[in-house]
Amino acid sequence: MPRVFSGIQPTGNPHIGNYFGAMKNYVRLGDTYGKNSIYCVVDLHAITNPAAYDPAALAERTLEMAVANFAAGLDPERVIFFVQSQVPEHQELSWVFTALTPVGELERMTQYKDKAAHLESVPAGLLMYPVLMAADILLYKADTVPVGEDQTQHIELTREIARKFNHTYGETFPEPQAVYAKDALRIPGVDGQGKMSKSKGEGSTIGILEPLDSIWQKLRVAPTDPARVRRSDPGDPEKCLIGDYHKLFSDLPTIEVAFTGCRTAGIGCVDCKKMLMEGIRRELTPLQERAAELRADPDWVRDALAQGAQEAREIARPVMEEVREKVGFLRL
Ligand code: TYM
Repeated sequence: MPRVFSGIQPTGNPHIGNYFGAMKNYVRLGDTYGKNSIYCVVDLHAITNPAAYDPAALAERTLEMAVANFAAGLDPERVIFFVQSQVPEHQELSWVFTALTPVGELERMTQYKDKAAHLESVPAGLLMYPVLMAADILLYKADTVPVGEDQTQHIELTREIARKFNHTYGETFPEPQAVYAKDALRIPGVDGQGKMSKSKGEGSTIGILEPLDSIWQKLRVAPTDPARVRRSDPGDPEKCLIGDYHKLFSDLPTIEVAFTGCRTAGIGCVDCKKMLMEGIRRELTPLQERAAELRADPDWVRDALAQGAQEAREIARPVMEEVREKVGFLRL
């Protein structure tokens, strides 16, 4: 049976890119593979980027990211879901991989280059970020990794690290494959400035737990197809952010009405955005209600995460034992 692993950073509010690109796949794969699907909130990763990390807020954000995943349908009775720093083996395996990974490979990572470009002093942890990711995945010998397209390069590096370890120390790890939500590879930001991203701040994101009136304020001013200067100018919904979002949220008859209305200038962009808002309301309202219930029961959330960490450790410990032995550390 496949073993699934994925992680999500508690660096900002979870947005519809995270939700359609990754979180929905966690739930879907969890329904199929049960306790062979392992997910975690990666707080160790979150401290590598000084621009997005606040020690006073980290624990709260970690809980909030857990709440979002539970509210989106992740069931701790069916899958394993925990917080990365609760399982110290992630760091232990990461160090072993650090010793195997050429610095040049890490310096080539696109996300590293993007993030480092904005920093005056680059923490070594930012460079090592993908090594820790490889440790996350391989600690559970996972072969299936649900992610958005932006993680492709990191998963390729994970495969290289697995190969190198196996070559150096003998066959130990699988070479994992990324799996994508094919309709949500790279969801654009609502500001029209490329990919939706937590690290670009609230202006780019539509949060899944964001109040609906705040979402509407962002949509109202969101750019549309520039061809539609006047309401009477026809447009192309395939070239429009709002068209992209309709495909995620709206049912087929609504998409038909909105897309035809856009192409024939039968409707204006505000009408089209209002139709989209209906789909958003339908999708997010139940999720936000579940999140409110969970926030009212913090003990349940903490207990579920503690149980998840226990289950994760039970898998991680023997794998780490095997690694220690193969690497040649003294056993006492
Ligand atoms: P993070 O927290 O940035 O994002 C979580 C997941 O959401 C996906 N995603 C998107 N998908 C589609 N469109 C978008 N605009 C969009 N923005 C984000 C991401 O691809 C990701 O799947 N490095 C990872 C966390 C991580 C991890 C791991 C993932 C740590 N260890 C091990 C897989 C396996 C990250 O930054 O996720």
